[in-house]
Amino acid sequence: MALLFSTSWKKDIKYWIPALREALPDMPIYSREDSESEIDWDAIEFAIVWEPPAGVLARCDNLKAIFNMGAGVDKILRNDDLPGDIPVVRLVDPCLTEGMVEYVTYWVLHYHRGFHRYREYQQQSTWRRHWYPRPCERRVGILGLGELGGAAATRLSDMGFNVAGWSRSKKDIPNVESFYGEGGFGPFLARTEILVCLLPLTPATEGILNAKTFAALPDGAFLINAARGRHMIEADVAAALEAGKLEGAALDVFSEEPLPAGHPFWRNPKIAITPHCASLTNPKTASAEIARNIRRLQAGEPARHIVDRGRGY
Ligand code: NDP
Ligand code: OXD
Repeated sequence: MALLFSTSWKKDIKYWIPALREALPDMPIYSREDSESEIDWDAIEFAIVWEPPAGVLARCDNLKAIFNMGAGVDKILRNDDLPGDIPVVRLVDPCLTEGMVEYVTYWVLHYHRGFHRYREYQQQSTWRRHWYPRPCERRVGILGLGELGGAAATRLSDMGFNVAGWSRSKKDIPNVESFYGEGGFGPFLARTEILVCLLPLTPATEGILNAKTFAALPDGAFLINAARGRHMIEADVAAALEAGKLEGAALDVFSEEPLPAGHPFWRNPKIAITPHCASLTNPKTASAEIARNIRRLQAGEPARHIVDRGRGY
């Protein structure tokens, strides 16, 4: 029995391998640092992956489970080598959740208090103040009320914001209004001043942040996209900002990453860009989480957080 750690991101290995060895001391662990002759491909039963190089998964004939190093499984589900019958497990880790809650609350507070304007005024050496509403008068709406969206909604509601969320199924989160399904989308948007996207990328959600969606928001709304770039029609985001339909956007994810140097978003003063770092997977806590799941499988129990391939998340 062995584990394969496979990612195209070279720099991650030096953090992950020691963390995995600590979490799974008895498990042989292979990575790109091992030479071909050192890897016992037949022994590999578990793979931990993020954008694994082409052909790697196809070499593992005895896989029992594939663990994704992140929460979003859109890329691994599109991987040509993905075996059809092996459970794919997504990452659910309190540390990942906390990072996302911090990211979302940071930007909600930023726009709620109008700090985007003060940046502009500073550049003009202008001393000017704005009134701001009480948190309970500020309507935040979160697309996706899963592990991350649900936690962000709870934190914002605890901070006093008027929070709602939109998901496929109805949710029962204290003090968070639940909108769901196609019928709930319009009413959810109509009441949302700060729109946060924490949906998985699936055929049903791709391009959901488009002109029609923005038109349904109140004028001067804000967008925070920490999910996937392909949720956005980028031209529609730019047009909504230009028209004042959106007053500002904090974007962590883009259709093409890294965001190309010539992309107009870099120079758009209404857009705040972060480089897909809303929440970074922590190798230590994630390894411990994955190790717990591997032990469940070894004990004959099902893994937790298996992806529903039909739904795409
Ligand atoms: P979950 O699977 O826990 O939650 C997904 C939520 O989206 C659920 O509430 C689900 O509804 C809802 N949803 C899915 N499809 C639809 C749909 N068609 N219509 C309405 N609601 C829908 O995911 P996580 O919260 O763990 O992660 C969300 C995403 O965040 C990831 O997929 C990833 O893309 C992104 N992410 C980004 C990071 C970054 O650094 N930028 C870091 C980590 C994650 P229901 O509950 O009813 O099923
Ligand atoms: C993830 C991510 O999905 O980092 O975890 O984007």
